[in-house]
Amino acid sequence: MTVAEAVQAPDGLHVTFGPDGHHAIFARSWLAGYAAAEVDRRSEDAKRLWSARDFPGGPPVTSWQAYASIDAVRLRCLRELLSVGYLLLTGVPAEPGAVCDVVQSFGYIRETNYGRLFDVLVEPAAANLAFTSLPIGPHTDNPYRDPVPTVQLLHCLANCADGGESGLLDGFRAAAQLRAEDPVAFDLLTSTPVTFRYADASTELQATRPMIGLNSAGLIREVRYNSRSMEPVRPRSGTSPAEAADQMREFYAAYRTFAAILLRPSLTLRFMLGPGDCVVFDNTRILHSRTGFSAAGRRHLQGCYADIDAVESTAAVLARNCPSKAAPTPLAQ
Ligand code: FE2
Repeated sequence: MTVAEAVQAPDGLHVTFGPDGHHAIFARSWLAGYAAAEVDRRSEDAKRLWSARDFPGGPPVTSWQAYASIDAVRLRCLRELLSVGYLLLTGVPAEPGAVCDVVQSFGYIRETNYGRLFDVLVEPAAANLAFTSLPIGPHTDNPYRDPVPTVQLLHCLANCADGGESGLLDGFRAAAQLRAEDPVAFDLLTSTPVTFRYADASTELQATRPMIGLNSAGLIREVRYNSRSMEPVRPRSGTSPAEAADQMREFYAAYRTFAAILLRPSLTLRFMLGPGDCVVFDNTRILHSRTGFSAAGRRHLQGCYADIDAVESTAAVLARNCPSKAAPTPLAQ
């Protein structure tokens, strides 16, 4: 198809396409909107980056009842999830499987080798740190998958243990901090492929990506960070042993610098999950963690994975009917 003729008119641009002579009118307002710079909605430019001090009263919460019954509330929450990276609901029935209802309010469960849901409980012979009462540092889940689950949910069914505080951290904010403080380390972590791997009796998964992923404009778009599933970094091909040793030293120095930023208390938003609380977060951006807790008290979370394209879609469809009622809420409560 070619453009045979294009004529400017008061109502827009009149275009005749060849070879069949099809005629179309493009309104000026539509052309102006389309010509605006394309924004990568997954990148840092489309997000509100934050640190813990942006939430002095703790994470904003929304009741499940309001979220589930009022479209404007659900739209505001989903926009917050897309912009800030997380959403905390209260009053989700503290019953097994209720987390599925939360997923179905915006999308679809991503079933994995762990099943549709997984339980986070203390197990006697735990094969995973999640199933102990030990602290877990900030991480993203399942970086060994390709594609990685882009949304994670954790729903609290019981929490009578001492400790076990949850933490959320904006990985884009931390990566931007690294870029500002140590650009060489940032360049290394955005350009060095890292392999993440998981294997058990029935599964072998691996994905190779830089720890900090950029888009074609060089903007931060993804963070994969999980020391438990990261393999030792390999030297670039064709390097001598001495060059390989230098590469390793430089990479691990950059990794340590990023790790030190992630451990700054100022970045992590800490809060206690109680029965009925459900936290939903962008697993390509938000790192989650927990403090250790007493194994004596029962602590039971149910989790599952989903995907963020469905969040975008549900928000867009809701906005068709209530665009003016869903202005973003301020960062702080
Ligand atoms: Fe996790």
